[in-house]
Amino acid sequence: MVQQRSPVGADASESTLGRRLSRRKPVEKLVAETEGDHGLRRTMGFWQLSMIGIGATLGTGIFVVLGEAVPIAGPAVILAFVLAGVTALFSALAYAEMAGMIPASGSAYSYSYATMGEFTAWVCGWCLMLTYGVSVAAVGVGWGQYINELLHLTTGLSLPGALLAGPLEGGLVNVPAAVVVLLSMFALLVGVRESTRVNAVMVTVKVAVLVMFVAIAVTAVQRGNFAPFMPMGMAGVSAAGATLFFSYIGFDSASTASEEARDPQRDLPRAIMFSMIVVTALYCLVAFSAVGALNWTEFAEGRTSLAGILTVVTGTPVWAVIFAAGAVLALASVVLVVLYSQTRILFAMSRDGLIPAAFSRVDAHGTPRANTVITSVFIAVLAAFIPLGPLADATAIGTLFAFALVNVAVLVLRRTRPDLRRAFRMPGAPVTPVLGVLACAYLMASMPVSVWAAFCAWLAVGLAIYFGYGMRRSALEAETVPEVRA
Ligand code: ALA
Repeated sequence: MVQQRSPVGADASESTLGRRLSRRKPVEKLVAETEGDHGLRRTMGFWQLSMIGIGATLGTGIFVVLGEAVPIAGPAVILAFVLAGVTALFSALAYAEMAGMIPASGSAYSYSYATMGEFTAWVCGWCLMLTYGVSVAAVGVGWGQYINELLHLTTGLSLPGALLAGPLEGGLVNVPAAVVVLLSMFALLVGVRESTRVNAVMVTVKVAVLVMFVAIAVTAVQRGNFAPFMPMGMAGVSAAGATLFFSYIGFDSASTASEEARDPQRDLPRAIMFSMIVVTALYCLVAFSAVGALNWTEFAEGRTSLAGILTVVTGTPVWAVIFAAGAVLALASVVLVVLYSQTRILFAMSRDGLIPAAFSRVDAHGTPRANTVITSVFIAVLAAFIPLGPLADATAIGTLFAFALVNVAVLVLRRTRPDLRRAFRMPGAPVTPVLGVLACAYLMASMPVSVWAAFCAWLAVGLAIYFGYGMRRSALEAETVPEVRA
């Protein structure tokens, strides 16, 4: 016989579930946790944080995806970069406000926890695994392409196809992609201070090779290459913009380092905005000189890599070799930094009890060892078997969703906690965060159905884990349930 629940019992359990899903972590508590002895060492200043932001952002997007976007938009790929950049800029401003107010290493996940409650925070943290974890795999695959190009340019040899791609692309296993992830894991295990030094060197190298590219390619710019400027119309510009959004992902990485920053409230907003300015300027200059030097119609003919353009312009492979070598370092630095960011978000989620405690355990050197190893091995497997396209698309849709939530978080906290000290205020709020949400929604809406299907499947797995594990183990559980029972 089915037993009828009393209305009181029904109300109580509904309200228990409702309370659990919407319980918020007070901002003061989040900030206190970041200030207390969390085991991570505070070693970073403005420059290191900026290097993290730039290091995580300049990568496969400009070195590989630009070539794929030119046939979609023509010379107006420059506008597509601006469109994607504006979308990213709204979110960068929102991140700067939140990071200056809540310098917690969980980044957007922590901001959601403070503003929209545990359930939204979980969904956000789950999406950030696409932003960081899956994008590391995507960049690893891009790295594999450049290492092969470098090998080919210098020795005329290529790696066997079976070891350069996973089974979905006719290969067996993408060895270079997995290797670069595992090498980054070792660097992070050696120590964050050492890793940030390595990162700073790699960032310098990649900015230098991109500047070198601009300096050489700009000498070959011809006016005629810009006409017609928009051969595919505005539709081409927005489609290319959605593709190129991937290239802006990463500026937010600095916010995941807040618990290792010496003065996060002062330095984080500045580092985020500085990274955005440097990256956007470089993207527009590289795009301008690339499509100015080589007619856009030729991009569809296989000479799409930036290294290839240098060979066409100079007539010698020397510059292409230097560029490809720089790209190999550049993409490795993205893998390193973004992998680091992923471990810090998992650290924050584990500290909140939503995922197992192993992810927030640190060793005597202040390194979350188990977290780093488990995360890296998982990502290395993804990189070894899944192609770049699906990985980059999954990264983009998950990121857009998380970025939209950060804009919402700004709106919510402006209303609910106007009293909090904001080291940086998003200019033009509340209009700008609303525009930020709309811009993210616009780009998400332009994603194909297959990407949406994969995203929904990912969310379904996340919900199963939350209801089966996180909701019951949440550190806030002890504070919420007795209150309801009383
Ligand atoms: N923005 C990063 C890149 O382009 C993900 O590689």
